[in-house]
Amino acid sequence: MPEPFYVTTAINYPNGRPHIGHAYEAIAADVIARFHRWMGREVRFQTGTDEHGLKMARKAADEGRTPRDLADEMSGHFREMGAVLEIEYERFIRTVEPAHHRASQALWRAMETAGDLYLGRYEGWYSVRDEAYYDESELIPGEGGGRLSPQGTPVEWTVEESWFFRLSAYQDRVLQLLRRPGFCEPESRRNEMIAFVSGGLKDLSISRTSFDWGVPVPGSNGHVMYVWVDALTNYLTGLGYPDDTPEMRRFWPAALHLVGKDIVRFHAVYWPAFLMSAGLPVPQKVFGHGFILNRGEKESKSVGNVTDPIALAERFGTGNLRFFLMREVAFGHDGSYSPEAIVARCNAELANSFGNLVQRTLSMVHKNLNGTVQNYSSLSADDALLEQVRRACKDTLPAAFHELSFNQGIEVWIQAVWACNRYVDEQAPWALRKSDPERMTAVLMTLFRTLRDLAMAIQPVIPREAGQVLDMLGVPSATRRHSDFDADWFSPLVRTSHVIEAPVPVFPRLELAADAAA
Ligand code: MSP
Repeated sequence: MPEPFYVTTAINYPNGRPHIGHAYEAIAADVIARFHRWMGREVRFQTGTDEHGLKMARKAADEGRTPRDLADEMSGHFREMGAVLEIEYERFIRTVEPAHHRASQALWRAMETAGDLYLGRYEGWYSVRDEAYYDESELIPGEGGGRLSPQGTPVEWTVEESWFFRLSAYQDRVLQLLRRPGFCEPESRRNEMIAFVSGGLKDLSISRTSFDWGVPVPGSNGHVMYVWVDALTNYLTGLGYPDDTPEMRRFWPAALHLVGKDIVRFHAVYWPAFLMSAGLPVPQKVFGHGFILNRGEKESKSVGNVTDPIALAERFGTGNLRFFLMREVAFGHDGSYSPEAIVARCNAELANSFGNLVQRTLSMVHKNLNGTVQNYSSLSADDALLEQVRRACKDTLPAAFHELSFNQGIEVWIQAVWACNRYVDEQAPWALRKSDPERMTAVLMTLFRTLRDLAMAIQPVIPREAGQVLDMLGVPSATRRHSDFDADWFSPLVRTSHVIEAPVPVFPRLELAADAAA
């Protein structure tokens, strides 16, 4: 039985269209999901939209429509983004689904039964933009003497009757959890959380009475749940909670909640406390990735630098965008993108390096060997290259991806590509055609074999392009998993006289000039 692996993204607020940050998280989670499937695990990947709360209600009111109408439209754009970015999830959840209301109410009841809920009155600061309560001491000075949330968003003084969750009672247990190696990463986020919890946890207001766009609190007229309570529950809803389903048994607790650094507190502090209260196991890992900036700046409507990730993928190609984001940014840190950086990186490493290697090798096999795959006798230089590539693709890249160090894994991969390109230049197979055709065959077949390993390993990052390369090589789709590395795929191609066609370019060069005109 393969080991189960449940990975989730944050569910996005559909108060507007998706932006690059949403795309980044979706791509990273998809790379993780595909990587684990490739490693032979049974993966369940969930993403979706977080549709309740004051932010949605106000945005809809501003536009003179119902929140449901706004959510329906925008949630559609998030789905569309998933399709364009080749995000392969098992479940896209919307928090307006009846099943989700039922799950949220069941979790509420479980916390109530545990004696952790009580009715009170909230008086304090609230940021609608963050959908978060802040303690006075956390606020930072804003312009004109006003105060802002630690995220720099406006806060408003809020007074209302509210249900509270006895978060204070969980301080020690949450602290212990945060100290568990691997639970909260990266280290910087974990330290932040430890400091936050060590400073003392206050009970949390978990219902609202001043508006009604949310999941009704069971048995408490006029109260809707604080949006984060229902939002976090989505991870359980998707598995069929509160029913005892095969999915719940197989995939809970989640292996990984992938979220941005701004919402680690909700996932690594509040969420485990809710789960402990309800008697459910806590997730194995919460990872807070960094932010993607546009030329070093946060995207915002007022600055006018908001880029539609769907348009970006259409302009540069989904594979290029995915490769760029995973390669350029050290996962866990902030990173920056610009058209120039995307073009420079993708041209240097995909078009001019891997793409060129594929193109040259397959063209020569097609032309000089009549497209035939042949047995050959190797020299030590050939074996050394194959060994280096095999090690990078089979061992080093997977070990790095396992640790979520995508840029390091891809670095090792590109080093292997470069080693192949150097080998082509040194061996100059084109010059061997007349002088030593046997040696030419050995060189081309060595390269042919390295291409398979390189394409195999990069599948999680650029699934479509890697698949195209494997198709051109003739590698059967049933033998493209990590466990197939040492399988003999080569001899069958020799035996069956498989023919290599003239290659179609998979990684065309990107042009900035054409882009600027667009
Ligand atoms: N709805 C909440 C999450 C609820 S999860 C139970 C939310 N939504 S969000 O739409 O504001 O953000 C969704 C995800 O995108 C979050 O993980 C957030 O950190 C991430 N990002 C938002 N802007 C980002 C960047 N500029 N860069 C990278 N990720 C960023 O928070």
